[in-house]
Amino acid sequence: MLRSLLLSLLIGAGLAQAGEAPRLVQRDGRHALLVDGKPFLILGAQAHNSSNYPAALGPVWAAALDLKANTVLMPVAWEQVEPEEGRFDFSFVDTLLQQARQQDKRLVLLWFATWKNTSPQYTPAWVKLDPKRFPTMLDKDGKPSYCLSPFGAETLKADQRAFVALMSHLKRIDARQRTVLMVQVENEVGTYGLVRDFAPAAQAAFEQPVPAAVLARQKPKLAASGTWREVYGDYADEYFHAWAIARYIGQIAAAGKAVYELPMYVNNALRNPLEQPPKPWANNFSSGGPSWDVIDIYKAAAPALDVVSPDLYSPESVQIEANLRLFQRPDNALWIPEFGSKPAYGRFIYAMLGRGAIGVSPFGIDYFNYSNHPLGTQATNQTLVEPFERVYRLFAPIQRLWAQWAFDGKTRGIAEADDRQPQQLDFPGWTAKLSYRLGRFGETSWGGEFAKPAAGTEEPHGGAAMAQIAPDQFILIGQRVRVRMEPAEGTQGLMLRVEQGQFDDAGRWVMERVWNGDQVDWGLNLPAEPVMLRITMARPR
Ligand code: DGJ
Repeated sequence: MLRSLLLSLLIGAGLAQAGEAPRLVQRDGRHALLVDGKPFLILGAQAHNSSNYPAALGPVWAAALDLKANTVLMPVAWEQVEPEEGRFDFSFVDTLLQQARQQDKRLVLLWFATWKNTSPQYTPAWVKLDPKRFPTMLDKDGKPSYCLSPFGAETLKADQRAFVALMSHLKRIDARQRTVLMVQVENEVGTYGLVRDFAPAAQAAFEQPVPAAVLARQKPKLAASGTWREVYGDYADEYFHAWAIARYIGQIAAAGKAVYELPMYVNNALRNPLEQPPKPWANNFSSGGPSWDVIDIYKAAAPALDVVSPDLYSPESVQIEANLRLFQRPDNALWIPEFGSKPAYGRFIYAMLGRGAIGVSPFGIDYFNYSNHPLGTQATNQTLVEPFERVYRLFAPIQRLWAQWAFDGKTRGIAEADDRQPQQLDFPGWTAKLSYRLGRFGETSWGGEFAKPAAGTEEPHGGAAMAQIAPDQFILIGQRVRVRMEPAEGTQGLMLRVEQGQFDDAGRWVMERVWNGDQVDWGLNLPAEPVMLRITMARPR
């Protein structure tokens, strides 16, 4: 009691030792989120949109506990922290942090303000009721859109002031313990149904030359410089809107970081990643959002935003693979703050973590009596978390190790594709060949029952993630997959030993059994409940 009183006095006076700030680092094009100075893997659980009240937290912690998540992603709404202009109430944030610490969870806070899924629904009433001061966008005929304008100078000022108040409050209550790891600024921004703002201030900006910072990153299409139309032709309206929104959010993020520096990111309602090359906006996605084709505009206009991240709600494996590829860049860490809660998404965690994502989080991990079906599962009880817990269970005890291996470029991962075809993971010197729908004994070439797909494989649920922890040694985590290790082309090699086991708290391997005989003769057949194997390969002299 006395100790905590003393501590809060010291913190108030700015004297207590601040904890090391979470930060993103990049090396050789790979990324890590450093927490307490070491790579950290976010095994996240995102709560529902209306769970940001003290009375709603119980079902969130229960689901996060069942999932074995280490981090909860939770909205903080402008309407709740500034119900009257200039009067701030952070009591929910206080309760949230207190309970998160009791639950031994970290937090990512989601700032729902000017835009939440493009709409102003989370702004306070005093914003909603004053469209003169807080204008919406206008179409070509001067008709208002539902969406607040990124040229609303007063809106920006007010949102930024509230965000700075939030970050100042976080600094006061969390600079020592560092429960909050990152902050998402706004939520799925952009505009549906209108490509950009046509109000006079916006139009005047549209007719200005494209800023040099944008030209340097977003490849010009028609002319090396000039107005947005001259440089980007049919793409000009969408690109301009992306720039306007990015600049707006970037200023909010920068002001927040100036008082309390934490990694900040934006999330994204995706455009179709398979439309290649991407066509100009045709009313088919939210214009101006950070879709993959305008990541460079966001980087140019909003350097305070560290990451642009995809929200994955199309479970087709080709879509997911394409999005992971498009959002993982040397200048953009892969971070998936949302994906659907249907069981089909579980296997993609292997692909995300194997690729070196700094974290993942299914959406709606919350026993609140609400389901966002058909985006997510209908289940609102423990059945909801099972497909994800199955995978988290294996990664949770080694999350620090895995994050370090990923940062060092040692990991690969993949999910069973919808076409169920074999795949491979290539490592220096060795290749892992993966196949699906097989039983745990024998070969399909033998015909009869051996040729039939194994029971329980009607839907694709396979996946594998591997780390090459020494030149000839691998950790394999996976489910519903047959793995055969082969020497890289033109070399010789054999599988010397396979152990099933786990790592202890000190990061030492603890062997439980050696897999041999039936367990290796037909490849390594990983069952529906994932296992961890340590595979030692060798090259006979
Ligand atoms: C994506 C949004 O970012 C979430 O907040 C939520 O609205 C889901 N869509 C749908 O449940």
